Amino acid sequence: MLWLGIESSCDETACAVLQDEPLQVLSNPLYSQIDEHALYGGVVPEIAARAHLQKIAPIAEAAVKEAGISLKDIDAIAYTTGPGLMGPLLVGASFAKGLSRDLGIPAYGMNHLEGHLAAAWLSNPDIEPPFLTLTVSGGHTELILEEPGFKYTSIGRTRDDAAGEAFDKCGKLIGLKYPAGATISKLAQGHNRKFVDFPRALHVRNNCEFSFSGLKTAVLRYTETHEPDFIKVHLGDICASLEDAIVDSLVEKTITALKLTKMKTLVVGGGVSANAWLRTRLQDYCNRHGIRFCIPDRSLSTDNGAMIAAAAIRRNRRGLLKSIDTVKPWMPLAP
Ligand code: KG4
Ligand code: ZN
Repeated sequence: MLWLGIESSCDETACAVLQDEPLQVLSNPLYSQIDEHALYGGVVPEIAARAHLQKIAPIAEAAVKEAGISLKDIDAIAYTTGPGLMGPLLVGASFAKGLSRDLGIPAYGMNHLEGHLAAAWLSNPDIEPPFLTLTVSGGHTELILEEPGFKYTSIGRTRDDAAGEAFDKCGKLIGLKYPAGATISKLAQGHNRKFVDFPRALHVRNNCEFSFSGLKTAVLRYTETHEPDFIKVHLGDICASLEDAIVDSLVEKTITALKLTKMKTLVVGGGVSANAWLRTRLQDYCNRHGIRFCIPDRSLSTDNGAMIAAAAIRRNRRGLLKSIDTVKPWMPLAP
């Protein structure tokens, strides 16, 4: 069976062709709109929707071509139905439904966050719930317990900003371009993580909630009390300290949740799961405590079409795939 995955919830127009049995990503091209939004320091929903409209058909064609198949070979479509930006989601949904009508094949609306976690499943297809999941992206930071039958229970989430948002907003304050996560991680390499003592919020026993707004304020204060030249000279050390503060919080709360839920498998997904320091820290803890650590291949951490098709395949294998007809950008993974 061949699946076409379509992702258009934010600023990446992405399509992929996946084969089920044996599970394989045949193609996964995307168009990143980053340059179109960089000027504004963040994603502009209307610009995003228009760019999706322009790029979605060529990217779908590229996915089919790179997979070495023709559109007629596709058996089913999976597209992102939420959470995400309404305009961009509607472009993806309309394209998927039009194609579904034209080809006479079903189109299934998938949850973007379930897609991120399915990206980790792609490299660990034998994992079985229950397990603890950590979703860390530009819009979400949440620890969720997944039980059989796609039953999700929230263990703790951010009270304010998401981890990726913290990377992006703090990066902007120290003069980095949007999105700043990957840049901060690159600049931090080999630098002093103890250079600035940035705050770690909600450092309370048995608390699985996150908060990053205080960190944003601390970085703002730092930029107000230090000369731009000083910040430029010490950018590597500042980035390393910033990255450590965000990663510390993520790791601490994940460990707390692992202890509370007594789970022996940890599944991580979302754009921030590309972060090398987070991967190292979590892997290290899991190795020392006999916990299975599942994380997407780095190329599948940020938004892509393969993760959406993977989410559909994963549900289909359990006989739990149903089409969601309405686009609900607010749709959370756990109620
Ligand atoms: O999942 P994603 O591609 O889009 C959303 O669903 O939000 O995540 C994007 C986020 C951005 O905030 C970006 O700065 C962050 O993931 N990100 C990273 C890294 N790569 C992407 N953050 C830290 N380190 C990275 N290497
Ligand atoms: Zn995402």
